[in-house]
Amino acid sequence: MKKAMLAFAGSAMLILGACGGGGEDEAGDSGADNGGGNGGGKSYDAEAAQESYDSNCLQCHGENLEGQVGPELSGNDLSKDEVLSMIQNGGKGMQANIIEGEEAENVAAWIADQ
Ligand code: HEC
Repeated sequence: MKKAMLAFAGSAMLILGACGGGGEDEAGDSGADNGGGNGGGKSYDAEAAQESYDSNCLQCHGENLEGQVGPELSGNDLSKDEVLSMIQNGGKGMQANIIEGEEAENVAAWIADQ
């Protein structure tokens, strides 16, 4: 009787394990559509950058990058690397790594061009 219970518990673990694997596939998909965004001479995807800015940065840097809680981000000659390091390291009022990876690089390149 006790052995049967253990066998049941074991197969329940297997089912849970299989569900966990499914989540990883989704993460792989989101990386894939970045490949095509490099056409047209610009090294960033402005639409994606704007979208990410709107949901992650706008509340502190303003709708038109004019500054709010955080400083103005347009017209001040910030380089992509400066913006990227700010995103990665944060600052006095700004959290580090609000966005990461290709998304952060894309937004940094876009802001540097504003
Ligand atoms: C919670 C508010 C907040 C959010 C959200 C926020 N920032 Fe900031 N940001 C600040 C503050 C405050 C500073 C000034 C920090 C300092 O002087 O150390 C700053 C500074 C910066 C700077 C440096 C500007 C300069 O002139 O040196 C950059 C670049 C920047 N933020 C980009 C971003 C980006 C990109 C995002 C979105 C991914 C973002 N910030 C989200 C508050 C925020």
